[in-house]
Amino acid sequence: MIKPDGVQRGLVGEILGRFEKKGFSLKGLKLITVDRPFAEKHYADLSAKPFFNKLVEYIISGPVVGMVWEGKNVVTTGRKIIGATNPAESSPGTIRGDYAIDIGRNVIHGSDSVESARKEIALWFPEGIAEWKSSLY
Ligand code: CMP
Repeated sequence: MIKPDGVQRGLVGEILGRFEKKGFSLKGLKLITVDRPFAEKHYADLSAKPFFNKLVEYIISGPVVGMVWEGKNVVTTGRKIIGATNPAESSPGTIRGDYAIDIGRNVIHGSDSVESARKEIALWFPEGIAEWKSSLY
C-alpha cells in the first residue's frame, strides 16, 4: 500500500516503476480512501501498540494505493526494495531510504509474510485480482 504521504508527494509512479523494473507483475491496483474499520482490520496485529490510533488516523486521512505484486520471492525482495520500517535505518536506494525521514510517514507498507499477504489481498481486493502469468519467471 502506498500511504497518504506517498500519494500526496507524487511518488506513485516512481514506486510502481521500481517494482515493475525489478521484474514483478502487477496483479492488482486501486486508489482508495479507506475507513476506520478497514484500517483497524488491516493493522489488527498492531492494535496493542501505543501508536495504533495515530497510525489508523493517518491511514484514513487521504487516498492510498493498494497494490498486488507477483513474482519469485516477491514478499522478501519487495521488503528489500521498500527498506527498513524506520527511515533512519533504511538504506539509500530503498524506497524509504530515498524518500522518508519519519517512521509514521514512511511512504509505503509491504506485507511481512506470504501469510499476511494472502490476508491483505483478501481484505483489499475482495473482488479478485487480475489473472495473467508473466513469461519472465
Ligand atoms: P508499516 O509497514 O505500515 O507497518 C506498521 C506501521 O506502523 C509502520 O509501517 C510505521 O509507519 C508505523 N510505526 C511503526 N512504529 C511506529 C512508531 N514507533 N511510531 C509511529 N508509527 C510507527
